[in-house]
Amino acid sequence: MEVNSRSYDDVITNSNLSIESENKVLKATIIHLKNELNKFRKKPLILCHVKNIIDDKIIIKLPNGNNFLVEVSNHLVGKLKVNDEVFVEQRSLMIVDKLESHKSYDVENFVIIEKPNISWEDIGGLKEQIMEIKEVIELPLTKPHIFEKVGIEPPKGILLYGPPGSGKTLLAKAVAASTKATFIEVVASELNQKYIGEGAKLVKDIFKLAKERAPSIIFVDEIDALASERMDVGTSGEREVQRTFMQFLSELDGFEPLSNVKLIGATNRIDVLDPALLRPGRLDRLIEIDLPNEREREEILKIHIKNMNLNNVDLNQLVKNTESFSGAEIKAICTEAGYIAIRKNRYNVNNNDFVESIKKVRSEEQSDHISMFG
Ligand SMILES: Nc1ncnc2c1ncn2[C@@H]1O[C@H](COP(=O)(O)OP(=O)(O)OP(=O)(O)O)[C@@H](O)[C@H]1O
Ligand SMILES: [Mg+2]
Repeated sequence: MEVNSRSYDDVITNSNLSIESENKVLKATIIHLKNELNKFRKKPLILCHVKNIIDDKIIIKLPNGNNFLVEVSNHLVGKLKVNDEVFVEQRSLMIVDKLESHKSYDVENFVIIEKPNISWEDIGGLKEQIMEIKEVIELPLTKPHIFEKVGIEPPKGILLYGPPGSGKTLLAKAVAASTKATFIEVVASELNQKYIGEGAKLVKDIFKLAKERAPSIIFVDEIDALASERMDVGTSGEREVQRTFMQFLSELDGFEPLSNVKLIGATNRIDVLDPALLRPGRLDRLIEIDLPNEREREEILKIHIKNMNLNNVDLNQLVKNTESFSGAEIKAICTEAGYIAIRKNRYNVNNNDFVESIKKVRSEEQSDHISMFG
């Protein structure tokens, strides 16, 4: 009998427990649904721009273009700037929140900032070009007083032009290293792609950043994407690029030749550049970076084989066989020859490895050529 009553109690306790837990689940569901319901009841907020700040009141611009003087929620007082994006209540137009996602817009996330460690010795050939860059970029950055004494203004920047892989980026990094300047790299084709509608602002911020981190060198790669001569500016995308370019020119016009910011542009397509970019006082120093000749190829090869473990390699033959190769391609044959040796379980790289690697890089070059022009 005792056994039976105990089991009855057990049943009661067990069912109590399950009712309690069910109750918990239901309560949680109610809270969840109430929250959801509240969200449905809320009116959507409007995203606006801060146009001006007057004491503790703010002038906002609505998406329809109308401006209003409005109140700010306490937690945002003193934390807003002109051009911030904010959320406002529909009825009162009070600012209740700030859009922080524009953090991703931060110019420092867009450009590459570095202190390169390329030295002049890492560059084969290009002797005249290096001399000119030293005169035009290095000297004004390191010894501005010379120019003041003589009474001339150095160029604000230079344009490096020439085929792919010929050492343009390498040169720009080397001069940044030799002047201990901050190297700010911008790819012009990305200016209007990453944050649509913000290209002009990015340009402004890039120059501002360069001034803050001075001495600095702004390196604009593929500058033709920003500054190519446009026949017509029909589409909104083209107008946007045009606006970005105008901002770029005005920034360039705005800085002093002897300020410690210099600009280096690079392009493979000098033929399409807008002459406005090359006008006196802008990027008026053009430096051609051509493919290396025989002597220069030898210098470049020597740089890239410096740390390689070679066995009976005929350097003269390599130089002859790499005609029309760029510096980048010469580097590629060295790396490839090393891989061929590794595949054959060797630690040393021999002449045959190079012969094979030259064949491979040349056939890649030709197939690139065919796919570009064929
Ligand atoms: N003159 C050179 N001396 C030594 N190495 C070179 C030379 N030119 C190119 N290289 C090698 O090729 C690599 C690529 O060169 P770089 O990026 O400077 O070419 P680029 O002219 O900027 O090309 P692109 O027009 O494609 O941007 C360099 O990092 C370097 O290893
Ligand atoms: Mg480059």
